[in-house]
Amino acid sequence: MEISTMIKTLQDPMGIPFYPILFQVLMVITFALHIIFVNFVIGTLSLSLYGYIKGTSYWKSLSNTMIRATTASTSMAILLGVAPLLFVQVIYDPFWYVSNTVSAAWVMGFILAMMTAYGFTYVFYLKRGADGKGLIVLGVAAFILFLLSGVIMHVLGYQLLLPEKWYEWYIKGNNIDTTGMLLHAFQASRFLHFIVPSFAMTGILLMLYAWYFKNRSDKDRDYIDWVGKTGAKMAFIFTAIQAGIGFWWLFSLPIEFKFFTNPLFLIGVAFGIMLLILLYNAQKDPIKYAVYSMFGAFLTILSMAYTREALRMKYLVRFNYSIFDYKVNVDYGSTALFLLTFIAGLSVVGYLLAIAYKSGKTTDEYVSTPSMEKWGKISIAVLLAWIAVVVGIGVMVSIKNYL
Ligand code: HEM
Repeated sequence: MEISTMIKTLQDPMGIPFYPILFQVLMVITFALHIIFVNFVIGTLSLSLYGYIKGTSYWKSLSNTMIRATTASTSMAILLGVAPLLFVQVIYDPFWYVSNTVSAAWVMGFILAMMTAYGFTYVFYLKRGADGKGLIVLGVAAFILFLLSGVIMHVLGYQLLLPEKWYEWYIKGNNIDTTGMLLHAFQASRFLHFIVPSFAMTGILLMLYAWYFKNRSDKDRDYIDWVGKTGAKMAFIFTAIQAGIGFWWLFSLPIEFKFFTNPLFLIGVAFGIMLLILLYNAQKDPIKYAVYSMFGAFLTILSMAYTREALRMKYLVRFNYSIFDYKVNVDYGSTALFLLTFIAGLSVVGYLLAIAYKSGKTTDEYVSTPSMEKWGKISIAVLLAWIAVVVGIGVMVSIKNYL
């Protein structure tokens, strides 16, 4: 069977419940958020290990702060990984499932690696008073396992792009390889393009830390300045390295793609250059530029995430595949519920973030303002209404199916 026909037969015959553009946009946005938190995981853990080994008073304090950030970032990376995972399965199902099947053992190993890495990170965080040598081994092991998880995700995302190779990965001589024990394709430039920004993003996080605590009377001003400067330096150096890796990746792409002329790629490059200039200026006054730098980094990553999606479309159009040809079977009910959940979730998460932001600004007990109280009450009401609607629909559908 011809590859493109085979791919079409692997699609869900029911079609998808809404227009593909919605899934694509949400996939790209959530992937951008996912990779930002992945970057924080790798970057903060590396810095925490570095600070732990260095052991001077500033580095020790920073190491403690960073490992706390690693635990929170890991939760966010996992949470925000699930969303693009679901979207990619909706619009790229034939590709995603084949890629997962030919490396199935690694897909299961991924969960184990993540769980172990997360556990080790917590031990490294909670037991650091002990100062034992064994602890650093756990921190390093967590780092290696997080990187391994990234390698597995990268391989799954990359194998997906190469249907012309699936056959040779699946058939070995006269035998079919159903073990799923192998990772078949790895592209160093692409992988590094998603991992090296960890150090730039963590640099910007340090700048934000200095900005956030600059007026807190209980914080040592020299320490805060040192954190800001260290962050700005890291952010600039690694953004420059990252730009180099971006071009390495670009030049490793098939020449017939002519990807260097792609408008999305050019927008991404423009944002990248603007970020680099911003970070260059930030060296003199990291606190002043902290918020702009995070905003610039977000725009750069978002446009790079869309560029990555445009590249996937380029790879797959070789097999006459376009998500825009997917059979659409519009289901307004589930789509509306999904979007309302999304909006309600944003409001509730926004409230939690606002409380965390405001309470950390003061050394005294935080007293909430009337508007914050109102927001809190609305958030609880929204959550209760959401639970009532979801449970209600579930019960109704179950009864209907039973009758
Ligand atoms: C700290 C651990 C993790 C690291 C280092 C990591 C790293 C990465 C990297 C580097 C990519 C881009 C791969 C590429 O395009 O070449 C990626 C994509 C992705 N990751 Fe993660 N990831 C982690 C955890 C997770 C988790 C826990 C989930 C799911 C719950 C997840 C879901 C995804 C998805 C769905 C994609 C995009 C697949 C696609 O669009 O093709 N990741 N991840």
